[in-house]
Amino acid sequence: MTTAAILTAAGSGSRLGHALPKALVPVLGEPVVVHAARRLLAARPGGAPLAALVVSAPADHVDAFRALLGPDVVVVPGGPTRQASVAASLAALPDDGIDVVLVHDAARPFAPADLIERVAAAVRAGHDAVVPGLAVTDTIKRVGAGDDGWPVEATVARGELRAVQTPQGFARATLERAHAAAEQDAGDESVAASDDAGLVERLGLPVWVVPGDERAAKITTPRDLAVAVLLATDTKD
Ligand code: CTP
Ligand code: MG
Repeated sequence: MTTAAILTAAGSGSRLGHALPKALVPVLGEPVVVHAARRLLAARPGGAPLAALVVSAPADHVDAFRALLGPDVVVVPGGPTRQASVAASLAALPDDGIDVVLVHDAARPFAPADLIERVAAAVRAGHDAVVPGLAVTDTIKRVGAGDDGWPVEATVARGELRAVQTPQGFARATLERAHAAAEQDAGDESVAASDDAGLVERLGLPVWVVPGDERAAKITTPRDLAVAVLLATDTKD
């Protein structure tokens, strides 16, 4: 089997509130997307390096991304939602016998190689859709409608919950089918899927969870960026 990866990096990072798009924000002197691509390219899923890496960039930063990532990485303009950006990258993936596809958020730049390899291994073992997940430490309650307060409807049994990360791994045909089936939702943030496994679930197909890794934490807010500096030193290669 041959594995490739899609790196979604076309978001603006509105919650981070930086002047640059999130993927270009420097951490320890290098842009977030460079850290993310380096760790993907260092992984050896199935004992070999990735056969291809396709990165989505904000439309007005495509040239900057190409200069940062070099000639071996394919850079495409992203779309209005994460789902649309993944679909654009999927369309640019070479044929080349690639049958396993990892989809990773540049916003999780310090996902270590062993996590990347664990997800790919589960796909190779026969799970057509695989996500890494961490046990939840907070007590989670489902609430009803409200303005500045909400009535509790239920306390969700914590042992049944996993906080899901990327990279997510797929049999290529399953990922392509899931995106094709949801194509009409890709332009609208209110109905687009926030992760790719969600699209597979909409088809009624099974999704498998493997253990996640705290180092694959997502940069969303300025606080997360401060934590990312610590993670960068933790997984430096
Ligand atoms: N993403 C993308 N294309 C979009 C929106 C998001 O490729 N149109 C990517 C982001 O670059 C990021 C990942 O999807 O790597 C997860 O999205 P998120 O953390 O929400 O990033 P942003 O959308 O950039 O941030 P925000 O929602 O705060 O604006
Ligand atoms: Mg977003």
